Amino acid sequence: MRENNNTSETIAVFGAGGFIGSHMIEALTATNYKVLAIDVDLKKLAEVLPDSTNVTTIELDITKDREKVEELIKDSDIVVDLIAYANPSIYITDPIGTVTLDLFENLWITELCVKYKKFLFQYSTCEVYGLDNGRNQPFNEEESLLVVGPINEHRWIYSCAKQMLERIVHAYGIKEGLDYIVIRPFNFVGPRIDYLIDDKDEEGNPRVFSHFMSALLLNKPLPLVDGGINLRSYTHIEDATDAFMRILENRQQFNREIINIGTPENETSIRGLAELMIELYNEETGANFSAGTVDIPSEEFYGEGYADCDRRIPDNSKIASLGWKEKYNLEEIFRDAIRYYIKNNEFVTQ
Ligand code: UGA
Repeated sequence: MRENNNTSETIAVFGAGGFIGSHMIEALTATNYKVLAIDVDLKKLAEVLPDSTNVTTIELDITKDREKVEELIKDSDIVVDLIAYANPSIYITDPIGTVTLDLFENLWITELCVKYKKFLFQYSTCEVYGLDNGRNQPFNEEESLLVVGPINEHRWIYSCAKQMLERIVHAYGIKEGLDYIVIRPFNFVGPRIDYLIDDKDEEGNPRVFSHFMSALLLNKPLPLVDGGINLRSYTHIEDATDAFMRILENRQQFNREIINIGTPENETSIRGLAELMIELYNEETGANFSAGTVDIPSEEFYGEGYADCDRRIPDNSKIASLGWKEKYNLEEIFRDAIRYYIKNNEFVTQ
């Protein structure tokens, strides 16, 4: 594990209790940074923090405890902002909440970084690229056009909120000298990604892996939205975290840039993913899963206003230039995640 030599640096991670955050904190325990792990809910950190660490956990709601947030940013050197709703069902059911949190609340953190001159790592999303529209081209940070659908497809409110945030961060870089790096994750998967559900209406609607995993464990058909024809490129969370740690160490080199984290080699259609997960589940459990898949129209699954990203191929040449290469191929990513959820078979409604 790499270590930073500067023991005086403090890194404040907002959203530390989430999927990406909990893995980031785990990696940061092996460094000399003083780490502030901040979230409204820190349950996911319980399984990763050893007894004695360089990590201080702080449970707070950034929308309520504003003075404390300002104090934490003032006392840090580096700020990582992971706070967001990043789940398509929420963009459909709560578009105002999505833009309020993902743009306006995040903007406030950006402004505090400007005020106190802190280095900001702003997590964004591959979804800012929007649609591939048959171009079949890797998404490049500096050159790709950002293509979204009409206003009545309100799924795109998330993409637009994140894009606006990126544009404001960029403007603060130019106008006020903000030091920052924007990171665009491409479909990370692994332990702790989402919760399992036995009824999707009970707890909203997690991302596709959790739906498929829940269906496998319950011996129900895996739901294929609009036939599962769209494509995604997956990255194991361990590889994604390794990429972040490399960027963190080399932050001056990439100051005021955007960096994709993703793996073009790990591309699959969602139908292909369902087939792969069934195969891996059978291998891991010795079961003979027979419920198969079921096609569901998106209006029925998500509600009105859903639209889908057709294809997202990351251009990952920037992180590759730091010696990064993914360790997990598509099968290994999902085998690892399936194993974790077989072991931690906890449904939210139980
Ligand atoms: C989501 C977020 O919007 C992104 O911001 C985020 O970066 C990304 O996840 C990620 O994990 O990195 P998306 O890939 O569309 O984007 O999220 P999923 O809910 O996992 O959907 C993937 C595909 O599976 C979509 O085509 C969806 O319609 C389909 N799906 C989903 C199914 O076919 N069945 C399901 O049960 C759930």
